[in-house]
Amino acid sequence: MRTVGIIGMGHVGATVAYTLFTHGMVDDLILIDKNEDKVNAEYNDLHDTLARNDSYVNVRKQDWDGLEDADIIITAFGDIAASVKTGDRFGEFDLNAKNAKEVGADIKESGFHGVLINISNPCDAITQILQKTSGLKKNRVFGTGTFLDTARVQRIIGEKLGQDPRNVEGFVLGEHGSSQFTAWSTVRVNNKIALQLFSEDEQEKISEQSNKNSFIVAKGKGYTSYAIATCAVRLVQAVFSDARLYCPVSVYNPEFKTYIGYPAIIGRDGIEEVVELKLTSNEREKLQGAADKIKEHLEQLSK
Ligand code: LAC
Repeated sequence: MRTVGIIGMGHVGATVAYTLFTHGMVDDLILIDKNEDKVNAEYNDLHDTLARNDSYVNVRKQDWDGLEDADIIITAFGDIAASVKTGDRFGEFDLNAKNAKEVGADIKESGFHGVLINISNPCDAITQILQKTSGLKKNRVFGTGTFLDTARVQRIIGEKLGQDPRNVEGFVLGEHGSSQFTAWSTVRVNNKIALQLFSEDEQEKISEQSNKNSFIVAKGKGYTSYAIATCAVRLVQAVFSDARLYCPVSVYNPEFKTYIGYPAIIGRDGIEEVVELKLTSNEREKLQGAADKIKEHLEQLSK
């Protein structure tokens, strides 16, 4: 049985639930949220699709005990309004650090021993707190991280070159936040390297546009949901199918001692392998800068 628990039934959690449900990618869904009315609404709204849906999914709500046998937990708690207000995803840090400590402890108590995929922002720092408080092994806990930012850069480059965004290889690395950066040394489009395609100025503009796009969406509709939920669902699929998917996620980096956006291989057990990149010195500096920002906030917590 493929069982996924979703903790946090806001716009993102609900979109993940709906996508998994209507695509028949799970057999069991466990919906959890502090807001009883909200989780009840999502539970009923999903069940009301059954008469018109091809697949049957058993949906439970608030079943923390049921998490013991879940394969995957998605955490999507938080309130993006705080990030929009400050223009930085660390705007949610105080709220979500507290949430993560509570949720991590509850996950540990449930006896969950599967793979935890975190969406909650600031993603890298919250993923780290969840790993620590849940007691799960580091390879079994990762965040969506720059998987979404990379998709945004792929889209921008694809549109500029009239290419399917999936023809664009390469990664956005670092923080899922303002210190993210496009590692242009990794970017290829139909095997042409980025340096042949874009000037340094154009590269800078493309990188900035990716992070700006998230705030355009969040300001316009009050949140983001489709792109992030699609990223999370893709990662769920990679775990269930043991796909060995090579992609950038928020993964623990022993050198920096923090979770940070970097390429890894995703499979049945979560992070199967972290893939070392040969970055330029400038890219290494940016990665270090992103790690320093994440660690500074985490160190504040322990004071
Ligand atoms: C975004 C949120 C998930 O970038 O941080 O859409």
